[in-house]
Amino acid sequence: MSKIIISPSILSADFANLERDIKLVEKAGADWLHVDVMDGHFVPNISIGVPVVKSIRKVTALPLDVHLMIENPEKYVKAFVEAGADILTFHYEAVSDVKNIIDLIKSFNVKAGMSIKPATSYDVVLPYLNSLDLVLVMTVEPGFGGQEFMADSAKKISQIKKSAPDSLIIQVDGGINEQTARICTGYGANSLVAGNYIYKSADISQAVLSLR
Ligand code: DX5
Ligand code: ZN
Repeated sequence: MSKIIISPSILSADFANLERDIKLVEKAGADWLHVDVMDGHFVPNISIGVPVVKSIRKVTALPLDVHLMIENPEKYVKAFVEAGADILTFHYEAVSDVKNIIDLIKSFNVKAGMSIKPATSYDVVLPYLNSLDLVLVMTVEPGFGGQEFMADSAKKISQIKKSAPDSLIIQVDGGINEQTARICTGYGANSLVAGNYIYKSADISQAVLSLR
């Protein structure tokens, strides 16, 4: 079985102690760091932006997996790449020209990801599977950590997996814990985002390990 990429979501970290909390997951063996960017328009919450990504870049060598939950993401691609993003994932629902933003992201030599919300059908991603590096299937309504896993949404992973090239990273985000991770990897996911499960756990290393 290929390796599962674990990407802890710092949305559940203590923002006043972000460096400390990043080191905790780094030591626990995390592969990437998931950074949730929210604009208060695409989702009903506001989180962090470019300056924070720039600061995080200085304190960790982990690849920065930036999840853009924002309208007009194409306007911010350059800024997030310059701030240090390694993977840039936009939402299908937030763009009018999918091919254009994929090409833009890839022109900066970073990985291009596209995410779909729970109500969006899996088939919208199919035309782009050969140009994307990553597809992110949301298993909660984007906007907040700590919500309950939506099992029906996870089923889309197996539909995508059927048509995906081997190199495609299929990531899942929302309500991931030891049990729901197993469901998703069973469907073919090979990257797991987890916020509360990791950061609210008494033993962070054990939590990361249990997801593998
Ligand atoms: C939600 C974010 C997630 C969030 C996941 O909109 O995209 O990355 O941090 O949090 P948990 O794992 O707690 O559901
Ligand atoms: Zn996310």
